[in-house]
Amino acid sequence: MIGTPLKNSATRMMLLGSGELGKEVALEAQRLGIEVIAVDRYADAPAMQVAHRSHVIDMLDREQLDRVVRLENPSLIVPEIEAINTVYLLELEKEGFNVIPTARAANLTMNREGIRRLAAEELGLPTAAYRFATSMDEFREAVAAIGLPCVVKPIMSSSGKGQSVLRDAADLERCFKYAMEGARGASDKVIVEQFIPFDYEITLLTVRHAGGTSFCPPIGHRQIDGDYHESWQPTPMVPAVLAEAQRQAEAVTGALGGRGIFGVEFFVTGDKVWFSEVSPRPHDTGMVTMISQNLSEFELHVRAILGLPVPQVESLGCAASHVILSEGQAAEVAFEGVAKALEIPGSKLRLFGKPDTRKGRRMGVALAFGADCDEARQKAEQSAHCVGIVKR
Ligand SMILES: Nc1ncnc2c1ncn2[C@@H]1O[C@H](COP(=O)(O)OP(=O)(O)OP(=O)(O)O)[C@@H](O)[C@H]1O
Ligand SMILES: [Mg+2]
Repeated sequence: MIGTPLKNSATRMMLLGSGELGKEVALEAQRLGIEVIAVDRYADAPAMQVAHRSHVIDMLDREQLDRVVRLENPSLIVPEIEAINTVYLLELEKEGFNVIPTARAANLTMNREGIRRLAAEELGLPTAAYRFATSMDEFREAVAAIGLPCVVKPIMSSSGKGQSVLRDAADLERCFKYAMEGARGASDKVIVEQFIPFDYEITLLTVRHAGGTSFCPPIGHRQIDGDYHESWQPTPMVPAVLAEAQRQAEAVTGALGGRGIFGVEFFVTGDKVWFSEVSPRPHDTGMVTMISQNLSEFELHVRAILGLPVPQVESLGCAASHVILSEGQAAEVAFEGVAKALEIPGSKLRLFGKPDTRKGRRMGVALAFGADCDEARQKAEQSAHCVGIVKR
């Protein structure tokens, strides 16, 4: 049953995190008459601009979260980012609140150690070899055990923050310091991972819904400095390799439980599939699904968490997304070249409406269809590069 927004009967969805992914979730929820409450640490965040109400709080702070949850009494608590006090979400869930997909999923995946141990040690999924370290001595031992090159990341970070590839023992200290400083919150541990020289990497969007588990066609993507730059769908894969990725995705999302969409990341070398990580929420590389599928990852997420039917996911053609990044810092920006970008046939734009910017901040995304993925990628890139971000 769905109530009426702004009345006693309202079905209230509280988004914890109000970025561009949350904005699309909010829009899909609005379409079904859900009352949307957007929360983030800064005012006028993208999802706040399309929500019924918003709150600006530090979501890592237990008291501040508690205050807005008691005030709003949401029917659904939907984490959009990792940086949330997930221990408090575990308490809320015990009290009877519906945390999407589950509080445990949010808690385990905000920490690379939690999800890696679950995937590799409990579920036996193939992952890059790994070690953890909290001190320089432990780090040295970990690197010796894993070998060079290796990838070093804070256990709590996202979008490539604090992450680097260690190729030369001379960089050991610098690399450790970089990871420790790039960590979010109070984490003081790094993960050292074997470097996988993969042929390609994918995101397999996996939906757990009332009718079972469904998979979207695989999304190929390219990362620069650990952050997504472009994605395309459906990326060609040998059927047996895709089936293996689906098997692993079903195992890890099944262990996390609940309902909603998950972005499961894999590396592929030949016919070998390595599990990398999973986000129990829409994935940034999945923005391509705004044009490439009959139901976008956002619509799928909202349907799944409301217990509504999820039909067979269908591809509408080869499509790609390409990020629009800010080159500098500004308190306010304007976009030029939008008309030119949209003159490219089969292209669309999403400008997120972020209130200010800094170097490298994702401000929008260009989407395009093509005869194949390569053409779609070229068109999305061309379209993204037409857009100029100017200071106002
Ligand atoms: N062990 C590895 N071997 C090779 N490349 C890796 C490895 N780990 C990470 N990478 C590369 O770095 C990218 C980012 O790593 P990862 O997904 O672990 O970090 P993240 O900070 O969670 O990124 P995001 O939040 O954007 O998903 C991967 O998509 C991949 O391209
Ligand atoms: Mg990732």
